Amino acid sequence: MEQKIKSIEHEVNSFLVSSKEALENFRLKFISKKGMIPSLFDEMKQASGEEKKKVGKLLNDLKQLAEGKFKAAQEELDNSSIEPADQIDLSLPVVPNKLGNQHPLSLTRHRIIEVFEKLGFNVADGPEIEDDWHNFTALNFPPNHPAREMQDTFFIEKNPDILLRTHTSNVQIRLMKQQKPPIRSIMPGRVYRNEAISARAHCFFHQVEGLYVDKNVGFADLKQTLYHFAQEMYGKDIKIRYRPSFFPFTEPSAEIDISCLICKGAGCNICKHSGWVEIAGSGMVHPNVLKNCGIDPEEYTGFAFGMGIERVTQLLFRVNDLRLYSENDIRFLKQFKTVI
Ligand code: PHE
Repeated sequence: MEQKIKSIEHEVNSFLVSSKEALENFRLKFISKKGMIPSLFDEMKQASGEEKKKVGKLLNDLKQLAEGKFKAAQEELDNSSIEPADQIDLSLPVVPNKLGNQHPLSLTRHRIIEVFEKLGFNVADGPEIEDDWHNFTALNFPPNHPAREMQDTFFIEKNPDILLRTHTSNVQIRLMKQQKPPIRSIMPGRVYRNEAISARAHCFFHQVEGLYVDKNVGFADLKQTLYHFAQEMYGKDIKIRYRPSFFPFTEPSAEIDISCLICKGAGCNICKHSGWVEIAGSGMVHPNVLKNCGIDPEEYTGFAFGMGIERVTQLLFRVNDLRLYSENDIRFLKQFKTVI
């Protein structure tokens, strides 16, 4: 009997249990009621007293060995993450990757671009670190003019002045220097101003400016283009008005207001009870600006406009504090999943 036990022990040790099937075969062969080990216990009953003791101990050891191996293999198979190929259900739908969502300002920027691209505007880009000429002088800001103070910024170098651009109008200048009319472009980008941070102002924000220079471009083109934009952005019922204003680089200049979306013109906190919200600055490109860029103002005219992406977004999503856009608070950001 001892011989038998030894050989079964050897078999137990060398049995490969690498799959659930093999494990079941192992159980049937050695441990189950009709398996080898229980039948050895039956056999043992016929042995004499002395032998029974000796064989009993050997048998118990063997039983423990087999059960231990069974348990360990079972656990390992249960925990193993690599499922055998035949257990993967290929007909199940794919678990989708979790996608993030775009920042609300990016959503708005893309929507603005979409509207203007349909009108034939392309997207132009330029540097955020700019020299005085492209940011101010070429745009007809005379030295020491108070209009410069309204756009105070951060200077990187003085004399010659290198600064963080205060508007994306610098890209208008770069475009007109590089390209002959017709020019029909919009310029989205980040701009900087030296302002104390509050719910309504920040030291940086985002703009989209537009420029259209060609023969016979008139104020009516400006009006209709921006009216179309406002309708695409905020719906067909939106009303729009132009208020005379001043920018050194446009003449005449107008501030563009839209009817307040929150109170529908009745008057509320957002529109300061006027029923109107300012949305953009605009005007006909000043002849001096065209001249500064080598374009003959007798031959060509153009219009330009500029709007703050934060402001457009605020009116789309009713966000009242500008600081939320740059705080990176995930609870705020993850609310902007859908493009409306
Ligand atoms: N550049 C102006 C600003 O940042 C906006 C503007 C652009 C106004 C074009 C008129 C024409 O305030």
